[in-house]
Amino acid sequence: MNSKIAELKIQFEAEVAKASTTADLEALRVAYLGKKGSITELMKEMKDLTPEEKKSFGQEVNRLKSFAADSLAQRTEELKKQEIEKEINSIPDFDVSMPPSMNEGSYHPVTLVQRQCERIFRSMGFAVEDYSEIVTDYECFEALNIPKHHPARDMQDTYYLENGQLLKSHTSAAQNAIYKKYKDALINDGVPIKAIFPGRCFRNEATDACHENTFFQMEGVMVDKDISISNLIYFMKTMLSEVFQKDLKVRLRPGFFPFVEPGFELDISCLICGGEGCPSCKHSGWLELCPCGMIHPEVLKAGGIDPEEYTGFAFGLGLTRLVMMKYGIKDIRDLNSGSLKTLTQFIDE
Ligand code: DAH
Repeated sequence: MNSKIAELKIQFEAEVAKASTTADLEALRVAYLGKKGSITELMKEMKDLTPEEKKSFGQEVNRLKSFAADSLAQRTEELKKQEIEKEINSIPDFDVSMPPSMNEGSYHPVTLVQRQCERIFRSMGFAVEDYSEIVTDYECFEALNIPKHHPARDMQDTYYLENGQLLKSHTSAAQNAIYKKYKDALINDGVPIKAIFPGRCFRNEATDACHENTFFQMEGVMVDKDISISNLIYFMKTMLSEVFQKDLKVRLRPGFFPFVEPGFELDISCLICGGEGCPSCKHSGWLELCPCGMIHPEVLKAGGIDPEEYTGFAFGLGLTRLVMMKYGIKDIRDLNSGSLKTLTQFIDE
C-alpha cells in the first residue's frame, strides 16, 4: 500500500477511536471525506503518477474512502445509541414533592357521596361490592322474579345488546351474584349477608330535570335468620341521617317490585324546596329516594338460599337523587354535563 495512504488510514482510525460524540464524527467526515478532506485531496496527487501507478493508487484511495465511510457510519450508529441512553438516564425521576403545575382535579359529586355512603355502610359491617355494567337477562330480570313478558319490565326501558346481554337497568341485577357469593358463609358458618353494591345504570329515558338515561344507584341487601322490616328502617334512617348530618323526615309508602314482598317506597322531604313543591320533586314536596322491601322468597331461592330459614331486606338507593338532594342540584343533567365549572365545586367532608 502506498505509504501515504497507509499513514492516513492509521491516523483516521486513531481519530475515529478518540471521537466521543456524533458531532466529533461529523467533523471527521468533513476532515477526511469532505470536498477538501484529506482523503479527497489524495486524488489530486494522481496527476503526478504514471498510468500504471494511477490505477493501483486510485483503487487504494477508493478502498480507503469506503473504509472511512463505513467506519464513520458504524461508529455514528453506536454513539447515537449511547447518546439516547444517556439522555433517557438523565431525565430525573418523578418527584412526588413537586407542587402541581396545573389546577388540581376534583371528585365528581356522585363519587363523593358514593364514598361517603360506603364509609357509613362499612362501619355498619357491610361489604362493598363492584359489579359489571353489562349483565344477562337472567341477572337483571329472571333471577329477580321478573319473567319474560312480565309487565314490570316495561318500567325499565332497557338497552339490549346484539348478543342478548344488556346494560344493567338497575343495581338489583347484582343481587343474584351476591347471594351466590356469600351463601356458603351464611349457611355453613352463620355469617349474615350484608353487602352494598353501587353502580351506574342505564335506561332509555326522555331526559328532563329529574330523569337521565345514565344514573347511579346503590343497592344493599342483608340476609340472615329473623331479619325484619325494622332492620331495614333502622339501617336506612341511620345512613340518611349520617349523609345529611341531620334527622331527616322520611315516609314509607307501599310500592310494588316483583323482587320484594312487601315492597315500599322510602321518600325523604325535598331539601331543595323544603317540602313546598318544585320541579325536582315533581311539585310533591317529597323525593322518592329509596325503594326497598323484604326480599321475595323466589329471589332468595334463585340465589341458593332457603326462604323458609332465612329472610332479608333489599334497597335500591337512588344515588344520583341523593347527590341532588345533598348539594341542592336542581337539574340532574348538570351531573353528566362534563362542565368543570359545575363539577369542581364539590368537596369531600
Ligand atoms: N331496582 C329497582 C329499580 O331500579 C329499585 C328497587 C326496588 C331495588 C326495591 C330494591 C328494592 O332493592 O327492594 O326500579
